[in-house]
Order: sequence, then structure tokens, then C-alpha cells
Amino acid sequence: MSEKLYLYPVWVRIWHVLNALLFLVLLVSGLSMQYSNPNVPLLPFNVAVTSHNIAGLGLFLLYLCFLVLFVFTSNRKHYKIELKGLPARLIMQMRYYAFGVFRGEQAPFPTQEEAKFNPLQQVTYVVVLFVLYPLLIITGLPLMFPEVIIDNFFGIGGTLLTALLHASAGFLASLFLVIHLYFATMGASFFSNFKSIINGYHEAH
Ligand code: HEM
Repeated sequence: MSEKLYLYPVWVRIWHVLNALLFLVLLVSGLSMQYSNPNVPLLPFNVAVTSHNIAGLGLFLLYLCFLVLFVFTSNRKHYKIELKGLPARLIMQMRYYAFGVFRGEQAPFPTQEEAKFNPLQQVTYVVVLFVLYPLLIITGLPLMFPEVIIDNFFGIGGTLLTALLHASAGFLASLFLVIHLYFATMGASFFSNFKSIINGYHEAH
């Protein structure tokens, strides 16, 4: 039996499952609004708008809870990016994902108690949580109350610009999710990382 490390504390697991569920509601309702076709709607338009607004507010509140717990717990140490030598470490990890993993090579940055993320995970989690999520929120909230948006921003309609930024951030976050799910399958077995984020224990290769 392979070694197990306790890496995902209860609050991370609760945050993660709620975050994933709300994100999926936002993704389906957002796509439904973006590509709405009155003849074949993914969701009826009013259902898409209401569920997007409710899940968006939920994700915003959950994100605030995440930030508080992030600041006051030791889990944040895993998100501290060491800039020195970062490009080389990212290239090593990408090379591993592109070739090494299929040749059965050792992971260049195996999961450890003190460093549970590889450099690529670290950078993507930091970008998603501290760039894309804030962008989604600061563009999403005004779209819920469009009267607060300025009419004109250097010749471009304020609402159009806000909506474009919101949809672009949503697209990038959705792209992250697809890649996140794919890389999550590269654990000790296909499902072992999915089990880890539910039961807290990482199973080593
Ligand atoms: C169906 C949806 C999702 C599934 C099945 C899923 C799966 C997983 C798995 C298996 C892990 C543990 C392995 C790892 O660290 O990579 C994980 C961790 C993580 N996921 Fe997801 N994920 C989902 C959605 C999301 C979304 C939408 C985000 C957006 C922020 C996200 C952010 C994270 C973060 C930040 C961690 C590391 C948490 C920590 O230990 O601090 N996940 N996820």
C-alpha cells in the first residue's frame, strides 16, 4: 500500500466542493446566456439569469471566506511562489506533463507535506484565485447593478467593456477547469487525486 499524506484540511475540502459546484452552475448558466438561442436554449433565459446571479453572489461570499481562511491558516505556504529559477522549473514540469508522464518517469517535483503543488499548479492556482476570481467578481457585481457602470470609457461603452472582461475571465477560468481536471487524473491512479480532495489524504505514486 502506498504512503498517504494528509494535505487537504477540512476547510479546504469544504471550500473546494462548494466552489466547484457554484463554478459549474456559473459555467452552464453563463454559456447558456452567452450562446442563447431562443429555439434551443441550454437553460430557459430567466432560469439562466437567476441561477447565474445567485451562484455568482454565492461564489463571491465563499471567496471572501476563502481569503480569511487563507490568511489565517498555514495552507497559504503552498501558494508562495519562489521566483528564482521559476521559468526553468515550469519548463521541467511542462516537459514532464507532455512526455515524462507517458514514459513512466519520476515527477520532477513530487508532492510533499511542505510543498504539495508542483510549480505549474502553484502558478495556475495563484493566477486563478488572485487574478481571475477578483476580475470575475469586480466585473460580475456591476453587471448585476448596471446603473453603477460608467457610460463611456475612452469611447467604449462601459457595460460592453465590463461584459467583455467578465466573459473573457470566465472563458479563461473555464479553460483552467478543463486542464485542472485533466492533470488531476495523473495521480497514483486515475481517481486517486479526486479521492484526495474529498478525504484529505494524498496517495503517493
Ligand atoms: C468539478 C470540479 C472540480 C474538480 C473535480 C476538482 C478536482 C480537484 C482535485 C482532484 C484536486 C487535488 C489535486 C490538486 O491539488 O490538483 C483539486 C485541488 C484544487 N482545486 Fe479543484 N477541482 C474542481 C474545480 C475547481 C475550481 C472551479 C477551482 C477554481 C479555483 C479549483 C481550484 C483548486 C485548488 C486551488 C486546489 C488546491 C487546494 C489546496 O489544497 O489548497 N478546483 N481540485
